[in-house]
Amino acid sequence: MSTPPSTRLPVAVMGAGAIGRMHIERMMRHPDVRVAAIADPTPAARALAESLGLPWFADHRDLLEQSDARAAIVATPNHTHAEVGIHCIERGLPVLMEKPVADTLENARRLCEAGERAGVPIMVGHQRRHNPIIQRARTLVNEGVLGRPVSVNGMATWLKPDSYFDLAWRREKGGGPVLINLIHDLDLLRFLVGEIVAVQAMTSNTVRGFEVEDTAAVLLRFANGALGTLTVSDAAVSPWNWDLAAGEAPHYAQVSVDTHFLSGTEGSLTLPRLNAWRFDGQRGWHEPLTHTQTMLHRQDPYMEQLRHVRAVAEGREQPLCSGVDGLRTLQAALAVHEAAVGQKQTTLETRMQG
Ligand SMILES: NC(=O)c1ccc[n+]([C@@H]2O[C@H](COP(=O)([O-])OP(=O)(O)OC[C@H]3O[C@@H](n4cnc5c(N)ncnc54)[C@H](O)[C@@H]3O)[C@@H](O)[C@H]2O)c1
Repeated sequence: MSTPPSTRLPVAVMGAGAIGRMHIERMMRHPDVRVAAIADPTPAARALAESLGLPWFADHRDLLEQSDARAAIVATPNHTHAEVGIHCIERGLPVLMEKPVADTLENARRLCEAGERAGVPIMVGHQRRHNPIIQRARTLVNEGVLGRPVSVNGMATWLKPDSYFDLAWRREKGGGPVLINLIHDLDLLRFLVGEIVAVQAMTSNTVRGFEVEDTAAVLLRFANGALGTLTVSDAAVSPWNWDLAAGEAPHYAQVSVDTHFLSGTEGSLTLPRLNAWRFDGQRGWHEPLTHTQTMLHRQDPYMEQLRHVRAVAEGREQPLCSGVDGLRTLQAALAVHEAAVGQKQTTLETRMQG
């Protein structure tokens, strides 16, 4: 990139595993941010830092003491998010927390309270919000393309290779597609349709037989009265998931299908292809619908998210997905498991106050 490094915001990366490396790779060529330093105890992370000529620390607290970072990305395992995030906040660094914002609601609350107390912004890595397709969909919904939302349906079904499950945590509680993948769909629907107030769900581990689910079917009630369904599976051969359909990152083989279907009292909208349907004349199920399609503008949402990190750190933008947003999305994802286990509806409003 032509921008000199000195004008790019130095950002610390805590955790250089799968997603940490994706951030680092983008930051190396980003016009707005640069990698200040990497904290991750593994030899592989140290080797990566050395190969890129970047400062490396085994312990994130040493990085916070010694680097010139002015913001941080926390891309460590879920159970460490709150601790590492709070340490960054205590040093006054705005943080991008990878999703889920924390492993439990209690830890998510602790993190949000620390940010609030210190006046330090928290962002959560629900990067789909930065995708121009979702941004356009949100504009269309706000302009009234749906009218009053009535019904939404989404699919997140695909086949993960068997080798993905070589890591033990991916076969155990907390490692399944509800908390890893469906959480993004829940956040997407919260962003477009509004707050989720109640959840019913069933989960199944019939295909893979692991402790954790491989498939889930979810019913949602939104605060505005709309109802929704979501299905997720990592054991089904299918193109119907956002990552493939939207081409969220270059390593996905893109397909041209829709995965989310929103409808309301005035019209319907599909994602990611942004097909819209409405009545121009008489209304009724025997009348012809008018179809329009918005031109798709594709852009890497992770790059846009990094631009946003700098803008938030410099006080020019508010977090698009705040810590509290991340907490509410986590709450909906945890409610899926709770509802599936209890086989009854889990109401979210009451639990938020608890
Ligand atoms: N936004 C997305 O699409 C997306 C995609 C993948 C993962 N994630 C999230 O990112 C996080 C990391 O996932 P991953 O798949 O990269 O995991 P990973 O296991 O590949 O990497 C985590 C890294 O963190 C390091 N680490 C552990 N404790 C640390 C600490 N205290 N300080 C510094 N480093 C530490 C580990 O050594 C490891 O290298 C998870 O919360 C996950 O849910 C988000």
